[in-house]
Amino acid sequence: MEIKPITLTVNGKKYTFMTGDGSIEGVIPNSEVLVKTLRERLNLTGAKDACEEGACGCCTVIMNGDPVTSCMILTVDCDGADITTIEGLENPKTGELDPLQQAFIDKYAFQCGYCTPGIIMTSRALLNKNPHPTREEIGEALSGNFCRCISHYHVFEAVEQVANEGR
Ligand code: FES
Ligand code: FES
Repeated sequence: MEIKPITLTVNGKKYTFMTGDGSIEGVIPNSEVLVKTLRERLNLTGAKDACEEGACGCCTVIMNGDPVTSCMILTVDCDGADITTIEGLENPKTGELDPLQQAFIDKYAFQCGYCTPGIIMTSRALLNKNPHPTREEIGEALSGNFCRCISHYHVFEAVEQVANEGR
């Protein structure tokens, strides 16, 4: 049985895990998905394990600069990855919210605890790459984040507020 060490950087902290056969305690099974590792081993419960099939975006985190659905990625394949979860967005020194989190509050874009972290992480990844997206580009970026409960207009306004402030 092969045991392989992997290193992940999550919210700026380095973690080393052993991966391999799931029969050994403490070893991450090769079949474990990233959202489970984040939630159950690192206690980072912001990314939600909702549909578990890549269809809702609730488990979105930023990996190496891109938004990814962490329910569809095996942790064993993340060796060397740099991952940011919703918990890692605030300023680590001051504890201040990311401007996008603040904009979600200001614009009443905050939705339920399931969909909101994923929507914010997808939007943050978009703004990091494209600081001034058009409404169409915001819509396209968020097309994989589902919420049937309320209108997304508040979300558009929050993302646009940050884009206008250039933050
Ligand atoms: S839980 Fe990952 S996309 Fe729905
Ligand atoms: S799924 Fe979160 S408010 Fe609709």
